[in-house]
Amino acid sequence: MAASRTPILAGNWKMHGTTAEAKALAGGLAARVGGRTDRGVVLAPPFTALATVRDAVAGSNIVVAAQNMSWADKGAFTGEVSPGMLADLGVRHVILGHSERREIFGEGDDVVRKKVEAALKHGFTSIVCVGETLAERDAGRTLEVVKRQVDAALNGLGADAGGSIVVAYEPVWAIGTGRVATREQAQEVHGEIRGLLRDLALPADAIAILYGGSVKPDNVDGLMAEPDIDGALVGGASLEVESFTRIVEYRA
Ligand code: 13P
Repeated sequence: MAASRTPILAGNWKMHGTTAEAKALAGGLAARVGGRTDRGVVLAPPFTALATVRDAVAGSNIVVAAQNMSWADKGAFTGEVSPGMLADLGVRHVILGHSERREIFGEGDDVVRKKVEAALKHGFTSIVCVGETLAERDAGRTLEVVKRQVDAALNGLGADAGGSIVVAYEPVWAIGTGRVATREQAQEVHGEIRGLLRDLALPADAIAILYGGSVKPDNVDGLMAEPDIDGALVGGASLEVESFTRIVEYRA
């Protein structure tokens, strides 16, 4: 990654963890990597553990993020969690448009866009996820799909929004499969995404672009050596103190 950006290592816990488990994991990570100032460390537990994790990392530099958020402020939206509710917990970071939200729960580009706008309105930093399926990659459509997703989420937001945006490239075929994109494959798409951000008049050189999809202690160093890979969004390997600590402590 380029020295001008601060690397971000984010753990997406997905639907894992009781409050007791969350407390132990977050507390363990706070002890191991909570003092780092040269790397941003983000933990995204389930909604039910946000307050627990917030308390467990209090006094450290670890940032707590939600995994999703409603675009609406309030109202008849059964099962949804609003920006204000998250802010009330002290949470100001959110993952949006994760491929599991898109694929399993039917979130389209339009919904992701509304959520990005809601996040900006409420002063959140968004980690906006994009990425192609295996069928799309095999059909040679990777860059087309990623461009469509980036454009839909970020077009026309204005340069000021750049400071509140992180992009995560997560090829769907690499998520939870153990099949990591090669560093060359990831770098190619990251470079394209940075070009797209520039085309959208966003401060492309200041925006962190994270890679996600089977990031592990044994492949993070190579990925982080690529110039446009600014961090990682980690699923499975973020659920244990040792493995996520090693990822945060990557050596590029
Ligand atoms: P895995 O690291 O388990 O492949 O998950 C990646 C991911 O989806 C992070 O958001």
